[in-house]
Amino acid sequence: MTTLGTPLSPHATKVMLLGSGELGKEVLIALQRLGVETIAVDRYENAPGQQVAHHARTITMSDPAQLKALIEAEKPHLVVPEIEAIATPMLEELEAAGVVRVIPTARAARLTMDREGIRVLAAETLGLPTSPYKFCNSLEELQAAIDGGIGYPCIVKPVMSSSGKGQSKIDGPADVQKAWDYAMAGGRVSHGRVIVEGFIDFDYEITQLTVRSVGADGQIVTSFCDPIGHVQVSGDYVESWQPHPMHPAALEKSRQIAKAVTDNLGGQGLFGVELFVKGEQVWFSEVSPRPHDTGLVTLCTQNQSEFELHARAILGLPVDTSLRNPGASAVIYGGVEAQGIVFDGVDEALRVPGTDLRLFGKPESFVKRRMGVALARAADVETARTNAKQAASKVRPRVA
Ligand SMILES: Nc1ncnc2c1ncn2[C@@H]1O[C@H](COP(=O)(O)OP(=O)(O)O)[C@@H](O)[C@H]1O
Ligand SMILES: [Mg+2]
Repeated sequence: MTTLGTPLSPHATKVMLLGSGELGKEVLIALQRLGVETIAVDRYENAPGQQVAHHARTITMSDPAQLKALIEAEKPHLVVPEIEAIATPMLEELEAAGVVRVIPTARAARLTMDREGIRVLAAETLGLPTSPYKFCNSLEELQAAIDGGIGYPCIVKPVMSSSGKGQSKIDGPADVQKAWDYAMAGGRVSHGRVIVEGFIDFDYEITQLTVRSVGADGQIVTSFCDPIGHVQVSGDYVESWQPHPMHPAALEKSRQIAKAVTDNLGGQGLFGVELFVKGEQVWFSEVSPRPHDTGLVTLCTQNQSEFELHARAILGLPVDTSLRNPGASAVIYGGVEAQGIVFDGVDEALRVPGTDLRLFGKPESFVKRRMGVALARAADVETARTNAKQAASKVRPRVA
């Protein structure tokens, strides 16, 4: 039996989000609706999720001492990482000491914190198909890895990075130095380690949202959402849609891979498993042990969005992963570098049939910062994609 409390009372059910961006904001809203007391943590003030939570805290989450002090002071029942750059060894320590439960598990947060833990687990421990890869600590090691079998074209990524930061494709020997320098400048923590991956010439890529929740018998059940198709530009998502049509054999393989990875990571919650597909062939790419940015589309396609699914799963509640209607999402970038920007054309955007918007409320805009997303539901994915892109293009961010 699951019992939930009353927020701001001695019997509150308290959940702390580590990272409170646009994805965390939606998880927080889903938790609020269930009367959960929420604590939104981020590295800067007025992060999107902090604007809707009961409590806002600003700390350096990669600093173990700050993280420990905050968790011990707030005493949340659950700690929910929303980003990767967190002092995960400290989370493991606190979880092992019984201080807190980490979603889905502290180990999963550590393994997915950089590209190395999860790639080694997937390819070497679980034997799942992935691109050929090597980890390198210098330009010389990178060149040797390419010459020694990875070959051209290949992709270089900092081990610690996300949203395509520091990532580039190498087409031939002339690009190697440039890719190395770019990776060094773009990594989150400049410890100079990269992964080089053979380029997979896939037909399409999908996100297989996978939920581990508690069934009526108290056992963990795994459920799958319909596949989400997406387009990435320079390693960053710009457009996604659901459902993405798939050959039944490729879908079955995708779900087997998703099940194998999520079974190993364990715990409760929603995972975004990224897969590359060519014909009936499927490669594992990476996994987020939390809602995925391409899954924003589920806000307009599923009976329960990926955020509601995550909230329910972590609280031990049943989930429903069914699709309600086809839909699409299109990203709205800042386009300008300024604080407190304004958005023109919101009314025009919402006049496009079947559309909705999320403006995240980020206090500062950058040219390539995701500031909002347009959502469109339609009778088919093609119409939804056209309408989502049209609505997104009508929203014009500018300096106030
Ligand atoms: N080995 C690869 N072959 C082909 N495309 C790739 C490869 N690795 C990454 N990509 C492309 O770059 C995107 C971002 O890479 P990913 O590893 O998911 O980085 P991030 O953690 O920044 O999302 C992928 O969604 C895919 O489009
Ligand atoms: Mg990715």
